Amino acid sequence: MNKKIHVSVSILAEDFSILGEVLKTIEDARGDSVHLDILDGVFAPNLSFGPVVIKGIRKLTTLPLHAHLMIQYPEKYLADYIDAGCSQIYFHLESEGNPEKIIKGIHSRKAKCGIVLNPDTSVDTVVPYLEKIDSVLIMSVHPGFSGQKFIPEVLSKIKNIRKISPELDIAVDGGINDKTIDSILESGANVIIANSFVFSSKDSAKAVRRLKGLNE
Ligand code: DX5
Ligand code: ZN
Repeated sequence: MNKKIHVSVSILAEDFSILGEVLKTIEDARGDSVHLDILDGVFAPNLSFGPVVIKGIRKLTTLPLHAHLMIQYPEKYLADYIDAGCSQIYFHLESEGNPEKIIKGIHSRKAKCGIVLNPDTSVDTVVPYLEKIDSVLIMSVHPGFSGQKFIPEVLSKIKNIRKISPELDIAVDGGINDKTIDSILESGANVIIANSFVFSSKDSAKAVRRLKGLNE
């Protein structure tokens, strides 16, 4: 697998009163996209923001916006996220609704579609959809908050999917830092999603390079 590593930077735990600066930090650090964690307080135990805020974010950066929907009824709202400017939508297989319909709904609006699996959800559940989607996102923490500890048991799930789909984009989200990144890349993931490691590093650009597997 020699796909280029894509680093998507989450803003979940950042200060929204200085959103412009937060987004500029991602651009200056050469992050490849902005990862937007959408939480409804039902699917996972936290609340964040929605399409209205994303419309504002769209005006503040030229980077692609990726929405990670941690909401109970993704089908109801996906058009709103795409209309607000998101070019990639990730939805959870554990949420409500018909996955085929959700995939079609995303693709018909010209956005890319990724299916997300929680740490306890098996790879078998996503296999029927692999040919129809653009990526699989393996959660390496339980959805809800930034700053949690990486769950190493998910590495075998990444390896399994890479074996089944040599060309598919495989994303990993949660607890990724300089200690966990090497095993993640070795397992075959090529989309790295991170929040705290990038923003808590003194040099965010260096942190992004590290997540791409580059040491300097
Ligand atoms: C968790 C979110 C993650 C989180 C990542 O529900 O989906 O995207 O913001 O944050 P870190 O990198 O701090 O684990
Ligand atoms: Zn996320």
